[in-house]
Amino acid sequence: MKRLIDKLRHYHSLTGEEYANLLSCQDTGTLLYLQQQAREVTLAHFGNGIFIRGLIEVSNRCRNNCHYCGIRKGNTAITRYALKRETILECCREGYALGFRTFVMQGGEDPALTDEWIEKTVAAIHCEFPDCAITLSLGEKSREAYERFFRAGANRYLLRHETHNEEHYRKLHPEEMSLKHRLQCLQWLKEIGYQTGTGIMVGTPGQTLTHLVEDLLFIEQFQPQMIGIGPFIPHHDTPFGTEPAGSVGMTLKLLSLFRLMHPSALIPSTTALATLSPDGREKGILAGANVVMPNLSPREQREKYTLYDNKAAFGAEAAEGLRALAQQLETIGYRISTDRGDYH
Ligand code: 5AD
Repeated sequence: MKRLIDKLRHYHSLTGEEYANLLSCQDTGTLLYLQQQAREVTLAHFGNGIFIRGLIEVSNRCRNNCHYCGIRKGNTAITRYALKRETILECCREGYALGFRTFVMQGGEDPALTDEWIEKTVAAIHCEFPDCAITLSLGEKSREAYERFFRAGANRYLLRHETHNEEHYRKLHPEEMSLKHRLQCLQWLKEIGYQTGTGIMVGTPGQTLTHLVEDLLFIEQFQPQMIGIGPFIPHHDTPFGTEPAGSVGMTLKLLSLFRLMHPSALIPSTTALATLSPDGREKGILAGANVVMPNLSPREQREKYTLYDNKAAFGAEAAEGLRALAQQLETIGYRISTDRGDYH
């Protein structure tokens, strides 16, 4: 097993069978070695600085009905909201003062957020904060729309493919959605010139080891600049409400494999990881993550953006908790970096 880990560190590539062997490995010594190697690679590339991104959850309205997601169209039990442009700019101002130099606009696929509205909002942020990076995470749009947002000043786009297996994709998503279209969107984003992020949830219902191998091979080939991976966590008002959550151990293992596969990738230690385990964020960093995305949304809206139950949005998970975050990082030998943290 250690030989496989060394091989991945050296060549950044393995066969499907080799990935499968590593994913099914339970040996503590081997897993520690994997983490150690991933951490070494991260430190060599980025030093001990962890990039911060201010997450602004712009709308919890969504036209899609994904079976895992708490803000799915079919969930009538939540209060819907959409932020005004001026509120988003206020969030950015607060974030800028705290040291954030990347703003992430994330939201459901809200039809009320027209391409024009998004374009103007991006332009307004870009105009007021020309030294900041703008990341969008607003789902599937037309190629023209992605081009407009890019021209208006957006630099990065996050769009997890969620699973690269057709059959598994069907199990997680409604009829109208397709894996093919999602992959098409990712291709467009890369062609347009976005630093593009993709990724998966770990432990969604029906996910097998073979599916995870397919995800590893896809990401190895697609070479996204950012890779987002977090455990699946059930939301009680969804069809998957009584399913078990994904495994923290498997999420960490995948984090490390992605780091060895792609040394310069920007890999967040996700909120889902921090939600499932009290020291999840630190564990993610020690497994090779180098980004955290504290919540910069208006405090009164945060509890409405419930992708899953008990989602962490306060304390060190919040922008105003930056000092607590810095302390947590310090205890494991890391520090907050206020650089923009672009992909190189
Ligand atoms: N558990 C964990 N992650 C989730 N996401 C959506 N619903 C859940 C859930 N129940 C993730 C998806 C999406 C990202 C914004 O949030 O992977 O791409």
